[in-house]
Amino acid sequence: MKVLIPHSEIVEICKNIGKKLTDKFSGKEPVVACVLKGACPFHSELIKHINLPITLDYVQVSSYVGTESTGEINIKKDFDGDICGKDIIIAEDIIDTGVTLSKLDIELKKRNPNSITYVCLLDKPSRRKVEFNADIVGKVIDNLFVIGFGLDYNEQFRNLKDICVYDGE
Ligand code: IMP
Ligand code: MG
Repeated sequence: MKVLIPHSEIVEICKNIGKKLTDKFSGKEPVVACVLKGACPFHSELIKHINLPITLDYVQVSSYVGTESTGEINIKKDFDGDICGKDIIIAEDIIDTGVTLSKLDIELKKRNPNSITYVCLLDKPSRRKVEFNADIVGKVIDNLFVIGFGLDYNEQFRNLKDICVYDGE
């Protein structure tokens, strides 16, 4: 499997994003939410670099089968906490078609948080089907299917420490 982004570069990206969030939310106590399962390693690394009194939460949505989005999301696990009035940071692994986060965004806005900030480790803008842009993107990549550091192909390869290009075997 060809390494696209080595672990050391991922850590640097997380440090950078952590610093931006620390500056942006200075004096606040944001909730840093992880979109399960793919964003787990990213979320875990990122929170080490946010120098604020944060709390954590976890949400799980689903839309994918194999390498294609099914176009609909369903909230499989909701936030534990009430997000009303809070500053919410959503950590996601990758934006592809944009469907997942745009639909999640509609749902979250109904709950009246004070703010929502979308932070994505990777972005594939060439694959967009709906208009959606994250507030902070770690790295823009080409139209490749990637695995590792949380990203899966049919639930496998999430445990790889680097991000690799999935080549079918
Ligand atoms: P979207 O709704 O098309 O933006 O898809 C977002 C979700 O699709 C991500 O949270 C990933 O779980 C999954 N996904 C999109 N592209 C890839 C990829 O290249 N590798 C693994 N998962 C992907
Ligand atoms: Mg996934």
